[in-house]
Amino acid sequence: MSGVSTDVPVVEVRGIGKSYGPVNALAGVSTTVSAGQVTCVLGDNGAGKSTFIKMLAGAHTPSSGELLVDGDPVTFSSPRAALDAGIATVYQDLAVVPLMPVWRNFFLGSELTTGWGPLRRLDVKRMKQITYTELANMGIDLRDVNQPIGTLSGGERQCVAIARAVYFGARVLILDEPTAALGVKQSGVVLKYIARARDRGLGVVFITHNPHHAYPVGDRFLLLNRGTSIGNFEKNEISLSQLTSMMAGGAELDSLAHELQREIGEDSPVVQEVVREAEQSRRVEGAGERSASSPTASA
Ligand SMILES: Nc1ncnc2c1ncn2[C@@H]1O[C@H](COP(=O)(O)OP(=O)(O)OP(=O)(O)O)[C@@H](O)[C@H]1O
Ligand SMILES: [Mg+2]
Repeated sequence: MSGVSTDVPVVEVRGIGKSYGPVNALAGVSTTVSAGQVTCVLGDNGAGKSTFIKMLAGAHTPSSGELLVDGDPVTFSSPRAALDAGIATVYQDLAVVPLMPVWRNFFLGSELTTGWGPLRRLDVKRMKQITYTELANMGIDLRDVNQPIGTLSGGERQCVAIARAVYFGARVLILDEPTAALGVKQSGVVLKYIARARDRGLGVVFITHNPHHAYPVGDRFLLLNRGTSIGNFEKNEISLSQLTSMMAGGAELDSLAHELQREIGEDSPVVQEVVREAEQSRRVEGAGERSASSPTASA
């Protein structure tokens, strides 16, 4: 089901971390992204997911740890540098111009031209043709590439962004919560294109807080909670129900307890109960996961 993986991951992070001044947003995170595989990054609000991908995407410089591409240590000085290394990122807000046709958005910033000197102009015909073909290759059946991209559904727009990254030669595709704002049916469509990008040999980094979206397409699962890694599992090391309970159980209760402590105060009996429950659920998970989690710390 999952694609081929070569020995050396396209991207590897070792003990990576990021502080914003005194705020420790992320620390000690390790995982790998292989060609033809999907690495899922799961975590609740504020877990550090966006911070993590911004480092892969070259938007932020890590404060600690190592980033390797094809086994070699790299430092990205800009998003352009990450893109040149083949790492493309589709952000949740999708930088599209709603009133522009689909084909214009597809080539935005990389327009094809024809002719020379004063006769140089946009090669509209070829751009439309390529957009149509590339979308069709990804199995996206758009009636008309002239329609404004704003008329597409959220799911379709995500799919156009994925097809675009594939066409422009991405080796690694990072998707920041592509299914967060979508209903069940559209989420399914986006998951299908994630699988298709994987089958075309890309390494995909799929950020989500929904284990039910992650599990069917994922080969590897990195779980973040409040800025630390709570596990980096291969699919055969974790079941969907374990993943769900790790996400919904301890992690979520932990965050909730944290929020409540801040908002209501530690002394409230309700807050103390949530804290107790979070601790208990962590103990239960600890007992079940211990054998799986310790050796996978992916040294
Ligand atoms: N530029 C910044 N300056 C200071 N703190 C930041 C900055 N960016 C993020 N943080 C903090 O780092 C932590 C992790 O944030 P991050 O945005 O990575 O989380 P996330 O998992 O993407 O959350 P969400 O699901 O809400 O998008 C949070 O506590 C956040 O407040
Ligand atoms: Mg985020």
